[in-house]
Amino acid sequence: MTATSRLRVDGLTVRFHLPAATVHAVTDARFEVRRGECLALVGESGCGKSVMAHALLGLLPGNAEVTGSAWLETGDGDPVDLVAAPEEVLARTVRGRRIGLVPQSPATHLTPVRTARSQLEEALRELGNPASADDLAARAGLRPADLDRYPHELSGGMAQRVANALALAGDPWLILADEPTSGLDRPLVDATMAELRRLADDGRAVLLITHDLRAAELVADRVAVMYASRVVSVAPAAPFFAGPRHPYAAGLLDALPSRRFAAIPGRPPELTRLPGGCAFLPRCDRASAACENVPEPAVLPEPPAAGDAAAGNPGAGDPAAGDPAAGDPAAGPGASPAVSAPAGRSPASRHDGQEVACHHPLDHPLELDRHAAR
Ligand SMILES: Nc1ncnc2c1ncn2[C@@H]1O[C@H](COP(=O)(O)OP(=O)(O)OP(=O)(O)O)[C@@H](O)[C@H]1O
Ligand code: SF4
Ligand SMILES: [Mg+2]
Repeated sequence: MTATSRLRVDGLTVRFHLPAATVHAVTDARFEVRRGECLALVGESGCGKSVMAHALLGLLPGNAEVTGSAWLETGDGDPVDLVAAPEEVLARTVRGRRIGLVPQSPATHLTPVRTARSQLEEALRELGNPASADDLAARAGLRPADLDRYPHELSGGMAQRVANALALAGDPWLILADEPTSGLDRPLVDATMAELRRLADDGRAVLLITHDLRAAELVADRVAVMYASRVVSVAPAAPFFAGPRHPYAAGLLDALPSRRFAAIPGRPPELTRLPGGCAFLPRCDRASAACENVPEPAVLPEPPAAGDAAAGNPGAGDPAAGDPAAGDPAAGPGASPAVSAPAGRSPASRHDGQEVACHHPLDHPLELDRHAAR
């Protein structure tokens, strides 16, 4: 049994090798999702969110090269590095059991010739869950009659809810929810977020991948922002939504209709041709010459948590919340020297109460200068 209960992603990198190019889909991602919390992962289309989720489950195609580590330390089984684990281990102990996936575009994941009920009942049976399909479906906002439909008879929103129910069939420790609200109207979005919150409060961990920042605000304890394959910021939800420090994160919020409704100009770079400096530079209104020569990825992830985040208590185990025990170097078996701050730098990469796991360290003097509000 480990002292902590978390998923710890450390340097996760995914490259797709194509005949004429390499797609840099995920680069040196570092973050944690702890028991009892919901981490929202946001970022523009194509930045690598789904690829990251699939990498965690060993679901990428053969042309993918995955490096780094992703330690699943749930306390109810041996810690497992999801990157290094053999397929047999992932299939037998992880997928569906310790990690449940709500896939993006769920309709394409349902078997067309079988009813939703038959697929849900089979999942429950195979995963050894005595719960009834009706109960699970009700939690996802479905009526029993909905389960008797074939996939082509389900609306997009219903298929989404079937997928949400399927992800819970194995009572997983971590729910990877990839756009679980697409096609849902506002009340169902709110109900889905309430269910994710309840799952986290019951002691599970939730990684919510979403374009819907309003939904994320309803449920997230912390928010990770991805841009052009990198996780550029991880911050507690309250300061994030109050005004994130990272220019890209600020731009995402400014684009909301409820805020400035001003889109970030330009487009993200091609992942086959990432620039050497900060990838956001051509779109950033705070860029300076220094940004053209951003240091190599900094080894400045979130500090390791010393214990579980307490259920229903966002920020527990988090030094930003004043937990003196957090940051304890006595990490679990997945601990790596890479999670310690490099010599000569403050281990706390925090600014205005925000945690940052940025490829350009905010506690670097240049970075402070670049990202300071102007
Ligand atoms: N099998 C593959 N081979 C080559 N490139 C791929 C493959 N799968 C995904 N990609 C590329 O990886 C990048 C990241 O894709 P991903 O699906 O993770 O984006 P995303 O952030 O989930 O976007 P969205 O918000 O639209 O779902 C994209 O450029 C995509 O084209
Ligand atoms: S200030 Fe510079 S390093 Fe920071 S996001 Fe803008 S271009 Fe990138
Ligand atoms: Mg996606």
